[in-house]
Amino acid sequence: MHGAVNISGSKNAALPILAATLLTDEPCVLRRVPNLSDTRFMVRILESLGAEVSFKNGTVKVHAKKISGFADYELVRKMRGSICIAGPLLARLKTARVSLPGGCIIGARPINLHLKGFAALGAKIKIEGGYVDATAKKLKGGTMFLGGRAGSTVLGTANVMMAATLAEGVTVIESAACEPEVVDLAHFLNAMGANIAGAGSPTITITGVAKLHGAEHEVIPDRIEAVTFAVAAAATNGEVTIHGARAEHFRAVIDKLEEANVLVQRSGSSLVVRRKGALKAADITTLPYSGFPTDAQAQMMSLFTLAKGTSIITERIFESRFMHVSELTRMGADIEIEGPSAIVKGGRPLSGAPVMASDLRASAALVIAGMAASGETQVNRIYHLDRGYEQMDVKLRGLGAKIQRVQEK
Ligand code: EPU
Repeated sequence: MHGAVNISGSKNAALPILAATLLTDEPCVLRRVPNLSDTRFMVRILESLGAEVSFKNGTVKVHAKKISGFADYELVRKMRGSICIAGPLLARLKTARVSLPGGCIIGARPINLHLKGFAALGAKIKIEGGYVDATAKKLKGGTMFLGGRAGSTVLGTANVMMAATLAEGVTVIESAACEPEVVDLAHFLNAMGANIAGAGSPTITITGVAKLHGAEHEVIPDRIEAVTFAVAAAATNGEVTIHGARAEHFRAVIDKLEEANVLVQRSGSSLVVRRKGALKAADITTLPYSGFPTDAQAQMMSLFTLAKGTSIITERIFESRFMHVSELTRMGADIEIEGPSAIVKGGRPLSGAPVMASDLRASAALVIAGMAASGETQVNRIYHLDRGYEQMDVKLRGLGAKIQRVQEK
């Protein structure tokens, strides 16, 4: 792969920011929103709640003048991220009835920490018939610890932070998620008139305000899309310039790429990625930010199948995020799973095969492996890919990859 690619807006920042527009009855304008099935789906959720929404050329305009607080199972079931409408609904309407999201292929994905946070703000929580009912006469600030068994929670922090913006008094979230997407949300909320300090650190303080107003915001670039292209460049022994990414958001991945003998060079506001020499094995453990992101684990595993030596990849965030292992094995990789770790014995050539995508990042990993493999690879169920990568096939073709979107049967 050779050439340059532009990074789109961040999916995981855009989703809670779209939900945050429910906090005001005034119009909001969001720019650099990636056109993905997940963001389009969030737009449909906002519309189903009564908001007027337009989505054109990366700009979303939302006017949530009058909204209802009920989000149906049919809506929430399709995208787990839709749970982050609960916080804004509870804050604005003092009542939210949102279907409980199910688990997904990467793990059980409970929402106990979201609910713990709402309860700490004085909400009464009831779970009945697959729905969570949160109601409060009024929300009152409180101090809470939102750390869970795998560390902090990204959407849990986002949800509670949004709920607390309109609560009376001061809320302190301890063990808050530090991800850049949480910081971006805090910036948008502050632009709406909220009073949030400490986002990006494990302690976030929110001083409640009586009302939020409309605001404009530009979503941060997608750090996971950027690292996916960086890994793809290294896997194909190419040289790719990545425009519009913020390297400070994915230092842990750059560090591992460097350990793997990949050069990541800053050039102005862009990054140039290429191999320095033969790929080297390295070990990875996924962790909350600023550790190595779970959302880059699968792509990195594809890379390590190409590096001579043994790499141990340990997944600490989601208990079953190794569905790509059996598919990579079908392409000739030597990978064994032992508890939370995958042991990758790299250096064997990959050969193309029909494979099945199981989740968003696994699909990206299989596309990367397919580009590095000899022969043809057919990645099935690419609707997973379309949830989180804007025009990935088009962008990859622009870099010289031989990739085609074929109608799914
Ligand atoms: N957890 C709990 N209780 C909770 C919430 C989470 O135990 O109430 C656990 C989870 O089961 C998991 C860990 O905490 O073990 C972290 O989960 P987190 O809540 O941080 O995940 P999330 O907010 O539901 C977001 C991203 C994911 C990304 C994770 C981790 C969105 C829409 N999703 O999910 O993105 O993997 O953070 O960084 O922001 C993806 O884009 O492919 C994706 C899956």
